[in-house]
Amino acid sequence: MRKALAQTIDHLREERAGLETNVARRTRELSSSLEDLKQAQSALVQGERMALIGELVASVAHEIYNPLNAIAGSVSSLERISSEVQAMIGAYREAEAELPEPRRGELERRRAELDIDGTLDDLAGVVKVVQSATRRSVEIVTTLRSFARAPGEPIPSDLTAGLEETLSLLRHRLERRSIEVIARHEPLPEVVCRTGEINQVFMNLLTNAIQAIEERTAKDHSRGVIVVATRPEGSGVTISISDNGPGVPDDLRERVFDPFFTTKSREGTGLGLSISREIVRRHGGTLELERAEELGGARFVCRLPLNPPQGMGRGAPLRATNR
Ligand SMILES: Nc1ncnc2c1ncn2[C@@H]1O[C@H](COP(=O)(O)OP(=O)(O)OP(=O)(O)O)[C@@H](O)[C@H]1O
Ligand SMILES: [Mg+2]
Repeated sequence: MRKALAQTIDHLREERAGLETNVARRTRELSSSLEDLKQAQSALVQGERMALIGELVASVAHEIYNPLNAIAGSVSSLERISSEVQAMIGAYREAEAELPEPRRGELERRRAELDIDGTLDDLAGVVKVVQSATRRSVEIVTTLRSFARAPGEPIPSDLTAGLEETLSLLRHRLERRSIEVIARHEPLPEVVCRTGEINQVFMNLLTNAIQAIEERTAKDHSRGVIVVATRPEGSGVTISISDNGPGVPDDLRERVFDPFFTTKSREGTGLGLSISREIVRRHGGTLELERAEELGGARFVCRLPLNPPQGMGRGAPLRATNR
């Protein structure tokens, strides 16, 4: 009797231990599902937020495009007018010699008081500053507008050809810096996408790689290398662009995707990566910065599904007004 009881107790113990293991395993599984759900939710919220920001940016860009172009147009006539005024004053000054005193002396005094020569020089300088600032603003607004406009329907595309095409557009720059481009292409299936937009992503990533290499070679005269690799992956494709530039410091790894974040003092608007990430997101893919172990610089990896999501974000609707 006692033996039977002891056996039952042992049996119950074993069962309890088994139950505890099962509960622990289920708890682990549930925690990991919860974590996945949280990540999915945050990706959705982030996507929604980016779409809203995109819409806002597009309407602002559209509203300021026309006034900005009006300023740009006026500035170029301002340059012409200022040089005409300068020429006219020169002519008056020559004629001044023929004036009788005290008229001539009065005019000379007045001219010195107003520092006409200095003012005309300042005017030319101001026109140049306004001109370059306006050019830059028009460039930013144009980029934002062209990004916001939905350029046609997605079509089956050969992304390797798109990459090669983009590289050939940059050939002059690559040759000037003697940058070696190593292509590692595995045959890709066709990807349904807006080809122009995806080529814009390639252009942004390759331009960044060239600029990063230029930054480095200016310091240590090393040889620039860019590796462009494509391969099918799961039900999509992966395109990576790596360089042997200085890379991105750890604390800037996510910030580089922020709109207007740039470390380039003159030539950067800071929009390349944020726009590229948004384009890829609309296509249902991801654009990430990963470590370029082989080359030591930056490695941007773009993952795209073979088909974009149903009813792919058509880009922010532009306002119909076109004053
Ligand atoms: N390949 C790279 N190597 C090192 N840093 C990079 C690389 N690509 C991007 N970055 C960093 O990320 C920042 C943001 O890049 P992004 O392309 O968005 O803007 P930008 O190149 O500065 O200006 P824009 O592309 O508008 O001309 C850059 O200023 C640079 O600091
Ligand atoms: Mg850039």
